[in-house]
Amino acid sequence: MSSPLLEVCDLRKTYRLGHVDVPVLKGCSLKVDRGEWLAILGSSGSGKSTLLHLLGGLDRPDTGGGDIRYEGRPLAKRSTRSLDRYRARTVGFVFQFYHLLPELTVLENAMLPGLVPGGIGGGPARRRVRELLDRFGLSHRLHHRPRELSGGERQRTAIARALANDPQILLADEPTGNLDVHTGKEILDLLAEAHRDGLTIVMVTHDQQIANRADRDGRLVDGVLGPAAAAGSAQSVEDSPTLA
Ligand SMILES: Nc1ncnc2c1ncn2[C@@H]1O[C@H](COP(=O)(O)OP(=O)(O)OP(=O)(O)O)[C@@H](O)[C@H]1O
Ligand SMILES: [Mg+2]
Repeated sequence: MSSPLLEVCDLRKTYRLGHVDVPVLKGCSLKVDRGEWLAILGSSGSGKSTLLHLLGGLDRPDTGGGDIRYEGRPLAKRSTRSLDRYRARTVGFVFQFYHLLPELTVLENAMLPGLVPGGIGGGPARRRVRELLDRFGLSHRLHHRPRELSGGERQRTAIARALANDPQILLADEPTGNLDVHTGKEILDLLAEAHRDGLTIVMVTHDQQIANRADRDGRLVDGVLGPAAAAGSAQSVEDSPTLA
């Protein structure tokens, strides 16, 4: 059997607030195969964004707090340069609250990852995101600023930005969280199309219906990932050999 693309073992993350330790992830394990779409459910404050930030190399687990391996290689053992490349080229990140820069246009926002260390460079990124924005129905909005866009247009811009460097894995944090049901469905349709084209997706959400669009789901409870117990869920962790 081939090894998983992304593998997380016994991940622990504690925030320190003043003198108080707040443990959020308490031994979280999961595996994601290449080309798979995994949804992680959890109530507000359960640690979904925290987990996604760790998977994306945007934050670190506690010292000795488990392992994140991409293609079998632990992130913790990478050099700064290799980690930059992982953040820029391997993963694409859709943040919970868009995080578009207000002073930049749609095109400039979307091509930004091309310019960061490890990115594909400005020229290639511009060509790629123009194509993506065209496909996402935003070619008439290229030179608009985020404040002039609807929520759905902002999220499509954020997804184009996440795909700017042609990543292997898309990490999507509540990609429809701030949108109405119809607009949310359009966003999920975009993700489904990218998934059909081979993109691996890890998406977090508090909504079982949204999780049902994925191949498989799990639920984060008390800092540990387990099966999504709700009826009508996508194939759950329990049924699956690849989610630990
Ligand atoms: N930088 C931080 N410093 C201290 N505590 C934090 C920090 N970030 C998150 N937390 C705490 O960690 C817990 C998990 O937060 P997280 O944002 O990961 O939850 P979530 O599942 O994404 O919630 P939501 O569904 O509301 O987005 C919360 O109790 C939160 O207050
Ligand atoms: Mg969150």
